[in-house]
Amino acid sequence: MSSALFSPTAVGLTQLPNRIVVSPICQYSADDGCANDWHLMHLMQLGISGAGLIVLEATAIERHARITHGCLGLYSDANEAALARVMVAGRRVASQETRWGIQINHAGRKASAQRPWEGRVALSGSEDPWQTEGRSALRAGDGWHTPTEMTLDAMARVREGFVAAARRAQRLGFDVVEIHAAHGYLIHQFLSPVANQRKDDYDGSLENRMRFPLEVAKAVREAISRSVSLGLRITGSDWIAEGISVAEAVVVASALKALGADYVCVSSGGIANVRIPVGPGYQVPFAAEVKTRTGIHTCAVGMIVEPEQAESIISDGRSDTVALARALLDNPRWVWHAAEKLGAEGSIKYPPQYERSKRSLWPGAQLARPDAMPTAP
Ligand SMILES: Cc1cc2nc3c(=O)[nH]c(=O)nc-3n(C[C@H](O)[C@H](O)[C@H](O)COP(=O)(O)O)c2cc1C
Repeated sequence: MSSALFSPTAVGLTQLPNRIVVSPICQYSADDGCANDWHLMHLMQLGISGAGLIVLEATAIERHARITHGCLGLYSDANEAALARVMVAGRRVASQETRWGIQINHAGRKASAQRPWEGRVALSGSEDPWQTEGRSALRAGDGWHTPTEMTLDAMARVREGFVAAARRAQRLGFDVVEIHAAHGYLIHQFLSPVANQRKDDYDGSLENRMRFPLEVAKAVREAISRSVSLGLRITGSDWIAEGISVAEAVVVASALKALGADYVCVSSGGIANVRIPVGPGYQVPFAAEVKTRTGIHTCAVGMIVEPEQAESIISDGRSDTVALARALLDNPRWVWHAAEKLGAEGSIKYPPQYERSKRSLWPGAQLARPDAMPTAP
């Protein structure tokens, strides 16, 4: 049986051995942006997962671009050196074919927040908060900081911050750089009328709202080699009438494709305090629409949990790749088990050290008989 999920593909010039992507997953565990032993464990574990592409968590382009005090950063030489240590280790244990990406981000008005397990709201006065900046001086909601409106100089500084972080990522040998343009962070704040309410060249029409996001993407594209693929995580819907719709996401993706972006990962939400009808594959229709209408390489994400579900998304042509977050955190062996289920074992090799954990070599019937227990090595 051949599996679409386990067939190779490419994003730009980056070849992927299969269609499974580790979605960016913030660990909120860095020290002033520097990766540490937690990241070492996390990325070595994901390194052996068998996923075709591992995209590291939202990584701040400036110290004040961090969501929380624990966010990873690429704004200093110390950050770069700390991440180099982790990446060397991750690559050492991963399959040679595994590709690595990093998501670069500015949190905008959602910066200076507590870690999720500390409350997830704005830092209080005793928690070393900082002044946030955003497209407009509009709070993300009750209890959030009021950002300052970004000037043209601030926008130029942030654009160069994205460029500098992307250059650091290239130096670290990442195959893919992904700009975070979703989940209510700064680039999304420019794109969405929900957070963008100023009267200038960057507000109003979609053409105006996407001006800065496109400027950032173009500057990053020009700053890194063609061999480093450029992607953006975009929003397929703000889930609110006055917000971004999938029709606008199609226009954004099309403009990104024209300037040389290699893929979009289509997520949603995070900009307005609304109830989202979350369910299995609930964002996949957005990815499918963007893929059909633009032809750009598309990654679907959001409650893709079962191997058969992931397989059908790819085999039906609704997306080119699928990104998984919680299912892979819960079970870092998801890819190995999916390969067994979908008859694609040949394309995924268990590391030989773990070979004997393979279920097919571990028949329950035999184990039920004490005399058939595997002998100690
Ligand atoms: C703990 C956690 C951290 C996350 N961090 C990020 C992040 O850094 N960047 C991002 O774009 N999405 C982030 N997400 C969202 C996931 O990448 C993913 O889009 C979302 O969880 C839906 O996919 P899932 O149903 O497979 O978990 C995070 C999600 C979780 C649960």
